[in-house]
Amino acid sequence: LLRGRTLSFTRLPDDLTDTTAFTYESDGAVLIENGLTVASGAYERVRADLGAREAIEIDHRPHLILPGFIDTHLHFPQMQVIGSYAANLLEWLNTYTFPEECRFVESTHAQRIATHFFDEMVRHGTTTAVAYCSVHKASADAFFAEALKRDMRMVAGKVMMDRNAPQGLLDTPEMGYDETRAVIEQWHGKGRNHVAITPRFAITSTPEQMSAAQALAREFPDLHIQTHLSENRDEISFTASLYPDAIDYTDVYARYGLLGPKTLFGHCIHLSEREMDAMSETGSVAVHCPTSNLFLGSGLFPLKQLTGRAKPVRVSVATDIGGGSSYSMLRTMDEAYKIQQILGQRLNPFESFYRMTLGNAEALSLEDRIGTLAPGSDADLVVLNVAATPAMALKAEVIRSLADELFLLQTMGDDRAVAETYVAGKPAKAGLVAA
Ligand code: GUN
Ligand code: FE
Repeated sequence: LLRGRTLSFTRLPDDLTDTTAFTYESDGAVLIENGLTVASGAYERVRADLGAREAIEIDHRPHLILPGFIDTHLHFPQMQVIGSYAANLLEWLNTYTFPEECRFVESTHAQRIATHFFDEMVRHGTTTAVAYCSVHKASADAFFAEALKRDMRMVAGKVMMDRNAPQGLLDTPEMGYDETRAVIEQWHGKGRNHVAITPRFAITSTPEQMSAAQALAREFPDLHIQTHLSENRDEISFTASLYPDAIDYTDVYARYGLLGPKTLFGHCIHLSEREMDAMSETGSVAVHCPTSNLFLGSGLFPLKQLTGRAKPVRVSVATDIGGGSSYSMLRTMDEAYKIQQILGQRLNPFESFYRMTLGNAEALSLEDRIGTLAPGSDADLVVLNVAATPAMALKAEVIRSLADELFLLQTMGDDRAVAETYVAGKPAKAGLVAA
């Protein structure tokens, strides 16, 4: 039984006055049994419902207890790419990223980085992530083995790529198909693992490989699909030259049947109205990666244009490590807020916290399991401390509302604001060796 101030969203809030979009208890509790949340609400009520039953009580007051953060796009083999100095996406890929990913042919290297990866997720309060592994099956094996060991709900895929990259990073249409199938058979549904079909992007997949991805999507219609779309102007024109028959970048993926409600398209910064319509009609998700878009100079994500149009596009948020520059979803939403500021739009803290939790769960069609404190869901939680640093504590003296508190957490918070992370009901952060 965890005691603290609890916050859980039930839908996207309209604005800062919309207090019906979430449940907040100033003295709340979450009752956990066998890795699941079995009750949540006012402390006295949850306690009373327990009756004579025994429960270990952990008091997190005055901290906030929320569903764990969800990161819907990042690259596991790019932990040592973060902070690489480059002019733009394609230079960054060729100079730093592709050479680094070549190292994941070695299982021992992949296993070592997987340990660090999951430590960082837990340290930052992220309990579910949607990851790209490298082209090597060994990297996916290392990733899923570590996720299983920690009982974390993870979505990931072996990257499919068969051109425009170094030899050590290429598969073939057949290999990409066979190895993805092998990863699915070996890992999908094991523990809380989900396998995603992962053609990297149109530039690194031949039409033959796109057809192989399509075949996998047909055979495994329940699986997530992830790729990159419309991130950078040079990327868009290179793609157009490689797929001259396609109307636009989105149409490349549409031609191979890859649009749909389980597909996550990283970036989507420069989409045309036609492409937005196609995304909307198919229920595809545009994944906003703010720190990456700023770091690589890719552009400003038109969040409100996508969500506010007559045919709205589903949107999620993500770090995009290692193009992204922080593992923290708090830092990520701070940058998202600033991007909207530059675009003359507002992103209020209720919307931000909805997006990091339930919003991302909905984008993954996993809202029955994660992103919520609702009874029956996975007990994946984050405990946040608004006074985690001296500067935050000083500012916290003058905040007057929950919205103020969330906005302060977003503006100044990072892993230090994460007091604890619960994975399947077990405290996971305290056990980590300090950085
Ligand atoms: N497009 C294709 N691959 C990548 C990648 O690794 N990172 C980013 N940001 N964009 C990509
Ligand atoms: Fe990416």
